[in-house]
Amino acid sequence: MRKRLVVANWKMNFTSAQAAAAVEGFVRLVDLKADADVDVVICPPFLSLPKVSELLRNTSIRVGAQTVFWMEYGAYTGQVSPTMLNEFRVAYALVGHSETRGRFGKLEVPVSTLGYFAESDETVNLKVRALLFHAIHPILCVGETAEERDRGETEVVVRRQLTGGLAGLDVSEIGEFCIAYEPVWAIGTGNTCDAAEANRMAEMIRSLFADQFGTEAGESLRVLYGGSVRSSNSAELFSQPHIDGGLVGGASLDPQEFSRIVVSS
Ligand code: PGA
Repeated sequence: MRKRLVVANWKMNFTSAQAAAAVEGFVRLVDLKADADVDVVICPPFLSLPKVSELLRNTSIRVGAQTVFWMEYGAYTGQVSPTMLNEFRVAYALVGHSETRGRFGKLEVPVSTLGYFAESDETVNLKVRALLFHAIHPILCVGETAEERDRGETEVVVRRQLTGGLAGLDVSEIGEFCIAYEPVWAIGTGNTCDAAEANRMAEMIRSLFADQFGTEAGESLRVLYGGSVRSSNSAELFSQPHIDGGLVGGASLDPQEFSRIVVSS
């Protein structure tokens, strides 16, 4: 039986003080014991990571990063390495989120700036490897845009992202792995993917993972759904046989709403 996992992705929201208030509010609302049947991870912006990590130190809630760079140290202006994440007890990190890949469901940045985000399957793979090497669990995000779905390319795109992101990895190094199915058109739009369809994609992801790493690895892989998860739809999504929890953006900014989602898991 796979343990549920609910991940808060705060994206570029909250100053450090606001992040601290949100964590304190959430911890007051949800009394998670170490043996709780759900794992909860909060991914704040980098600058709030030290504070959030300190506040969560004596709880079972873990802290996660929203991205990472794959080199250890050096002349990489603006980047953050896995070693720096280790210092703050970061246990999980998102990789290949559609926003770091430069793929937006609801475009709020000029098209001409998309290259700035520009994560590719190759750099996603480098990040996954660097995280595994530093004992940080990757949460590899995959998902198609509305145009790709309309063209009937959903499976091809997700397969390509998985193949690229997991290239060259061996079952002995994958550890506790998570993959989030996040259709780009569902992120931040309120258009949640139908639960049965999200489950179909989660099943496909599990089976592709099992093809590469074996049946046992496929069975223990946690597949999350992300894209407009709310407390009003989380119970239905998380009760699907292949969906083991959620990656929650907007709704995780409100401690009350996020605690409802966690409790519903
Ligand atoms: P959303 O974001 O819940 O605001 O749709 C999810 C995500 O991007 O991880």
